[in-house]
Amino acid sequence: MTDNCNKRPDDMQRINTPELAQAFIDEKVAEIREQVGDGKVLLALSGGVDSSVVAALLIRAIGKNLVCVHVNHGLLRKGEPEQVVEVFRNQMDANLVYVDAVDRFLDKLAGVDEPEKKRKIIGAEFIRVFEEEARKQDGVEFLAQGTIYPDILESGTVKAHHNVGGLPEDLKFKLVEPVKFLFKDEVRVVGKALGLPDSMVYRQPFPGPGLGVRCLGAITRDRLEMVRESDAILREEFAANGLEGKVWQYFTVVPDFKSVGVRDGQRTFERPVIIRAVNTVDAMTAEVEEIPYPLLKRIAARITAEVPGVNRVVYDLTAKPPGTIEWE
Ligand code: XMP
Repeated sequence: MTDNCNKRPDDMQRINTPELAQAFIDEKVAEIREQVGDGKVLLALSGGVDSSVVAALLIRAIGKNLVCVHVNHGLLRKGEPEQVVEVFRNQMDANLVYVDAVDRFLDKLAGVDEPEKKRKIIGAEFIRVFEEEARKQDGVEFLAQGTIYPDILESGTVKAHHNVGGLPEDLKFKLVEPVKFLFKDEVRVVGKALGLPDSMVYRQPFPGPGLGVRCLGAITRDRLEMVRESDAILREEFAANGLEGKVWQYFTVVPDFKSVGVRDGQRTFERPVIIRAVNTVDAMTAEVEEIPYPLLKRIAARITAEVPGVNRVVYDLTAKPPGTIEWE
């Protein structure tokens, strides 16, 4: 998949300063205007770095002729859908369609415990929801995508899962992919120059199927909330203790079994939460982060005190290999 139009030009400079980012933005804004003219462009805006940077670039180039569609599938982290609305609709005055598809996704996923099947349902339902929104828009000719260079180089791996592929024939758009020759660090420099908040620009990687791969077995609403709330506590504590931006990826997992505990003199039969925190260069191998023990204890105490239904916290000490980063 590395034909000429998908090969980064050999003489392309690495974008690693605000000045180079500004020059890149000016060039892309001109190119986008040239490519789409007065046409309308559709973008699936997850709130991840890549789609957010593409959105901000297109807003600068064509304003409200960009239609951003944010699908809340119920598997996002705490505060994420709200942040997308705040940054893009309220601050950047974007044309943003917010789709609350939570019930739809969770109903489809009810009772499904096989990981691959869960992923497939999430992917297929995402395309269906996006397609429905696309059909409601008149005169859209273009589809913008947050493809970045590693997606082209490693096509078929990580990102391929969550790009909007598979739209029906009559919805074949012309593609607008302004960051397709950028590496991740360059996308972040451009995002910063576009004025996106640090919490978006320096966000840790997040899988397309979202918390769905961290709520093990058949997803239930109560366990999903346990994942979301415990993840929020973990992120808050990492940020407060200088680990944000230092640890590559960290999250919590809730399995589909219970264990016995005790609270206020009564036996409990509740869920464990697993904490995972890893460092890696390319996600192919990963090392476990050595979290200071007092911090681990504090996080465990907070999660068991603040997240209903959780009576135990464990720390995953497994490197990749033999473990993977996610639990699924
Ligand atoms: P694993 O678990 O295979 O994960 O060690 C490697 C990296 O890929 C991310 N990941 C995904 N990203 N869609 C994505 O966009 C997915 O289905 C998916 N599964 C895993 C994972 O979070 C880690 O960063």
